[in-house]
Amino acid sequence: MIHFTYHAPTKIVFGKNSELQCAQLLQEFDAHKVLIHYGGSSALRSGLLHRVCQCLQDAEIPYITLGGVQPNPRLSKVNEGIALVKEEAIDFILAVGGGSVIDSAKAIAYGCVNDGDLWDYFDKKKEITGALPVGCVATMAAAGSEMSNSCVITNENGWFKKGLSTEFGYCRFAIINPELTYTLPAYQTMSGCTDILMHTLERYFTKEDTLDLVDQIACTLMRDVIKHARILLKDPKDYQSRSEIFWASELSHNGITGDRSLGDWACHQLEHELSAVFDVAHGAGLAAVWGSWARYVIDQAPERFAQLAHFVFDIDELPDKKEMGLKGIKAMETFFQEIGMPTSIPQLGITLNDSQIDELAEKCCHFHKRTIGGIQKLDYTDIKAIYSLANQSEA
Ligand code: NZQ
Ligand code: ZN
Repeated sequence: MIHFTYHAPTKIVFGKNSELQCAQLLQEFDAHKVLIHYGGSSALRSGLLHRVCQCLQDAEIPYITLGGVQPNPRLSKVNEGIALVKEEAIDFILAVGGGSVIDSAKAIAYGCVNDGDLWDYFDKKKEITGALPVGCVATMAAAGSEMSNSCVITNENGWFKKGLSTEFGYCRFAIINPELTYTLPAYQTMSGCTDILMHTLERYFTKEDTLDLVDQIACTLMRDVIKHARILLKDPKDYQSRSEIFWASELSHNGITGDRSLGDWACHQLEHELSAVFDVAHGAGLAAVWGSWARYVIDQAPERFAQLAHFVFDIDELPDKKEMGLKGIKAMETFFQEIGMPTSIPQLGITLNDSQIDELAEKCCHFHKRTIGGIQKLDYTDIKAIYSLANQSEA
């Protein structure tokens, strides 16, 4: 049976200099006092933060700023933001940065409206009932938080990284100027490209019936990301390729390549434990585990793996769908290596010992309270086996 939900309410303003429309958009969404939230130093160094502040000043929109969001954003910064927003009677949060800044802004927005310890909501002990409005000036094509309803935060108390997806988690608007991504280091650009591919793959690997149209959109999107990532390796200032990749990051996580709730998502769960503890770049962490996951589960969906191999990597039809699918897995890994991404955990600069593998697996299965994955339900033993496979340097 074909069934899905599609909901993508975020207004997108795309193109060169689009950040100069931020004041106009804030007025459109009835902002009276704004928190401008940003990360480490990239938005300061590029002059973007200054331009955004100037727009608000010119439009006489009061604002305060809060920077210092780290990659894999931390709960302590979120709590600092919640206190500040309440104290200053802020009614709109404008994130200027990558996925970490946008997620931190979303978490602050939740914490201002929902009482008590915010982490209880990430732990699913309580249900979110609303949020302050959030908009963003996105500086990185990767997480797709601009159009997703998700927010992923790391709690330093125990180093747990958890996502929260609710109907209140969408940005009101997202400003996307591909030129803003010119300053990204190559590793971050390619980590972003990997995350985009993975958001599409996680949806593609579903046990549900799918529409050919959706599969074809997914495969075309992946071909496009692969093609333009290769161009950006050589020319990071190719505007066409930056634009292709940025729009792909939105489409890969706004539901058009498949309903998120029907997808697999095991690799994201495996990766979140890695970045929670070792603070690795999310996309790189995904590349490090994907091949091991894929080989572990391929028997559950050889046809889907074979189709992926054919449509994304032009692999010839073979009678043995598993053999064909394995060629596709190898081709994806070869692409990851070509763009400087790891295909094993040691290539992330970490070699796990047995007790670390155990710790990650325990956390990932929520201490034996859940399984992960869709095409194959993975329990603690499976998760441990996949981490062990990915921990071999030649994985
Ligand atoms: O902090 P600054 O100085 O801004 O530097 C950042 C950071 O060091 C830098 N950067 C961002 N834009 C830049 C730039 N440097 C130069 N020029 C620019 N234009 O890049 C580094 C990484 O930034 P970050 O925001 O952490 O990257 P990304 O966008 O990949 O976000 C990763 C986070 O999003 C979560 C991940 O788990 C991770 O915590 N995710 C969020 C999702 C969602 N909300 O829907 C879905 C994803 O699957 C993902 O889990
Ligand atoms: Zn992701």
